[in-house]
Amino acid sequence: MDSKSVILVTGANGQLGQALKKNSHTQNPIIYTDTISFDITDKAQMIGVFEEVRPTVLINTAAYTQVDQAETETELAFKLNEDGVKNLSELCVKFNCALIHISTDYVFDGKQSSPYKETDTPNPVTVYGKSKRAGEQSIFDSGLKNFAIIRTSWLYSEFGHNFYKTILRLAETKTELKVVNDQRGCPTNANELAKALLVVASKISAENSGIYHYCNEGETTWYGFAKAIFENHRHSVKVEAVSSSEFPTAARRPAYSVLDTTKIKKVFDIEIPSWKVALEKM
Ligand SMILES: NC(=O)c1ccc[n+]([C@@H]2O[C@H](COP(=O)([O-])OP(=O)(O)OC[C@H]3O[C@@H](n4cnc5c(N)ncnc54)[C@H](OP(=O)(O)O)[C@@H]3O)[C@@H](O)[C@H]2O)c1
Repeated sequence: MDSKSVILVTGANGQLGQALKKNSHTQNPIIYTDTISFDITDKAQMIGVFEEVRPTVLINTAAYTQVDQAETETELAFKLNEDGVKNLSELCVKFNCALIHISTDYVFDGKQSSPYKETDTPNPVTVYGKSKRAGEQSIFDSGLKNFAIIRTSWLYSEFGHNFYKTILRLAETKTELKVVNDQRGCPTNANELAKALLVVASKISAENSGIYHYCNEGETTWYGFAKAIFENHRHSVKVEAVSSSEFPTAARRPAYSVLDTTKIKKVFDIEIPSWKVALEKM
């Protein structure tokens, strides 16, 4: 990383933001901002921060992430995930700052049965997925030359709200749990993603700008993930595999959302652990 690099992180109190704080060991200054200090919907405030901090790389983890609630809070989801990202990319153009933006496997409809590549056509079927895809598009529309859109999936960690923490909490009071076994994806330890983002931040350039997929290697179902979590914790709770129809949700989840990570590994020389190894690191 250039000795003059200054990284600005948005959404620092979120799951990935906290994972970035924990895993950043660079000599370069990293400025962590939250909703109060850097609201991505408040352009005037954002300009003030850009003028003061003069970031060279911005890592945007801020987002509207309530997948089911988004079905009824459409306006708010788009305000953050599209308009907020538009604000960020326009300011990155103006201040000559690279943008690393986090997107999602939910930009795909889940009809594929082999891992999604960056070249596969997005077709989001939920409001959340559509708003995240609109955010990706706003980066392209801004004309920004230095950017990486990093799509990830099934994030978990010791921070924030996620499946890993929820299932362990449920197991404290229950002896049997039902978990869906008909959605395939790849759990991704947010700490591993955070380390990869910092590598990308140190190497991002106009030449390697574009969309990238990052998830831990391999694939499983939520049932498979739950079983592995309990095995790791030597927990004896009984897990029953059920169909998604037993847990209707406002937003339909993609049946298959495994991401192909070949491109990010090659371009940024990143090693990605399997989801089982990444889980053992928890
Ligand atoms: N979690 C997953 O499974 C998953 C999967 C695929 C992709 N992703 C993507 O990964 C990224 C990080 O996800 P995450 O799990 O870390 O989400 P998260 O825990 O919900 O964090 C999102 C953060 O955004 C902040 N935020 C909300 N509105 C804001 C605004 N107007 N200005 C600035 N910050 C604002 C929130 O702050 P407050 O706490 O103050 O509201 C929160 O700290 C997101 O882009 C998400 O779409 C997540």
